Amino acid sequence: MAVERTLVIIKPEAVKEGLVGEILARFERKGLKIARIRDGRVDRALARQHYAHHADKPFFEGLLDAITAGPVVFAIIEGPSAIAHVRNLVGATNPIEATPGSIRGDFARELPFNMVHASDSPETAEEEIRRFFGEGA
Ligand code: TYD
Repeated sequence: MAVERTLVIIKPEAVKEGLVGEILARFERKGLKIARIRDGRVDRALARQHYAHHADKPFFEGLLDAITAGPVVFAIIEGPSAIAHVRNLVGATNPIEATPGSIRGDFARELPFNMVHASDSPETAEEEIRRFFGEGA
């Protein structure tokens, strides 16, 4: 099993609802490590870059509004198969389809407010880690 790194963003709605500790605890309970963590915000320019693959979608501007709405927590989560484990713990994109027991299944109600972003491949993980933690991260 390859040790991987993945980028997690605890989104503004989760910070606002006081779910930061609960969400991080789920990754830790799985045996994954919090390699780096910081608070901050996603400004609109970075949000456009981060979600560029959705630029032509009708929900794009609403998605930008949601991710820029307030403070977030950025974390690099590390461990064997971390990318797939974190995606499983986070759950399906649409809260209506996310299984209870997953973070989105337990806490999220409707798109675009699905509480957490998690990288979906080794390539996007490294790109997103650089985007939010800088070139040397
Ligand atoms: P996507 O990368 O498809 O999902 P995930 O976050 O699970 O990797 O989509 C990015 C974000 O865009 C998603 O977290 C919420 C938002 N979104 C919507 O608001 N409506 C939609 O129909 C989809 C597919 C995504």
